[in-house]
Amino acid sequence: MKTIKILGVAGLVALAGAVAFIYSGLYPMGADVPHNRMTSWVLETLRERSIARAAKDIEVPSLNEPARLLAGGADYNDMCAACHLKPGKRESDMSIGLYPKPPNLTEARPGDSEAEARHRFWIIKHGIKASGMPAWGPTHDDERIWNMVAFLRRLPELTPEQYQILTARDESDANHH
Ligand code: HEC
Repeated sequence: MKTIKILGVAGLVALAGAVAFIYSGLYPMGADVPHNRMTSWVLETLRERSIARAAKDIEVPSLNEPARLLAGGADYNDMCAACHLKPGKRESDMSIGLYPKPPNLTEARPGDSEAEARHRFWIIKHGIKASGMPAWGPTHDDERIWNMVAFLRRLPELTPEQYQILTARDESDANHH
């Protein structure tokens, strides 16, 4: 009985401390001060577990058609490259200033699995809260998002010249944007 009481009081004190800290204004909110280890762990684990769960039943269509690559490339260049970079560009104001930092999507990553395609599709469609990553789902249909997922698979192999050719938007296409 006594232990329960002590635990109860300790819990209340901890809660009051947390509320006092929130109101104190001491939390560093600026994007130029990194999270401490504990906060990073909580946020990263929350993000990874949540996306893995939400994306697990998404069906991945065939991603190898050249038409997908071309459509996805033009969209990537217009909507994503400012933050996620392109071949030959290692930094941008966005990639330097945003926190969390947008990953450089031109860097090769191990594993090119279905799981990665699902994960990317979900992130592009829904975005990520409290980060610079917007949700593109409200304004773009699933096909367009899969086209970008297809393009992302090839992006790390592209030279700056190949990137330029693949991402050029031809005039007749411009109206569909
Ligand atoms: C304003 C900047 C910004 C723009 C524009 C943007 N993103 Fe992001 N994106 C981010 C940030 C920041 C993250 C990382 C969020 C995090 O770590 O929680 C991210 C994460 C991602 C991820 C997850 C990467 C990983 O390895 O976990 C993918 C995939 C992605 N973005 C694709 C895209 C695509 C495709 C577009 C264009 C349609 C796009 N993003 C546009 C900022 C941006």
